[in-house]
Amino acid sequence: MIVHNTIASLRAALGGAGRVAFAPTMGNLHAGHISLMQQARSLGDVVVASIFVNRLQFGPREDFDKYPRTFAQDCSLLEAAGVAHLFAPDETELYPVPQQYQVYPADAHEGILEGASRHGHFRGVATVVAKLFNIVQPQVALFGKKDYQQLMVIRNMVRELDFPIEIVGCDTVRADDGLALSSRNGYLSPMERAEAPRLAEELGKVVEALRAGRSDFAALEQGAVGALSAHGWQPDYVAIRRRSDLQPAQVGDPMVVLAAARLGNTRLIDNLEV
Ligand code: PAF
Repeated sequence: MIVHNTIASLRAALGGAGRVAFAPTMGNLHAGHISLMQQARSLGDVVVASIFVNRLQFGPREDFDKYPRTFAQDCSLLEAAGVAHLFAPDETELYPVPQQYQVYPADAHEGILEGASRHGHFRGVATVVAKLFNIVQPQVALFGKKDYQQLMVIRNMVRELDFPIEIVGCDTVRADDGLALSSRNGYLSPMERAEAPRLAEELGKVVEALRAGRSDFAALEQGAVGALSAHGWQPDYVAIRRRSDLQPAQVGDPMVVLAAARLGNTRLIDNLEV
């Protein structure tokens, strides 16, 4: 695997490389990221990954400074997963001047769910992903479904801004007890870690109820919020939405159930498609 710190070096290496499959990350890689890389191998001639902790998508009181940075370990994992090129710029390479030209997702897509509690987050994500797409120029790019709203925003950005890139959403990888893998799980205390699978369990109950034909969406959402609160969580939302744009679902829509909740100081998100 070749590590590129500059745009020029990456571009020179990718000239004539064939079909490029690209998986952007912020590092601190776990089995979920590695499964993206493995799927990327079957989708392209050459797999490119990036590691860049993107300040633009963190709020002023969020965890940019303490976001775990484990570069050497990440490199070993990526190399073992068959990644040919890693783009790992520093901030001066990607943002040599303040990024005044940015990608603003539609209000209806960014102002809801995660965007409602993380103001500006999806503008930061869309902006850096647009830059990375222009730098790497992949034919296909892979994103985890764990960040379902991020995947939805990127799909819509690619469609509306005519990026010639196929976007592939990859299934969430879970620990044996059901907890969705996330770099932020490392913030959990042992007691919180033992409690954390409840988020996926409550989502699972809502999915089961929907599959059984229940259509009282608000009651189902409230039931899950109540169950989490009763076990010490502070839920932000449990929401039954249609998959395509995450607006409130109607009976018959392809649906996804999404949740965000704080456990101690750690905010966890998860979702399950119905
Ligand atoms: O999902 C992530 O790790 C980040 O949001 C991404 C897509 C790499 C953009 O910084």
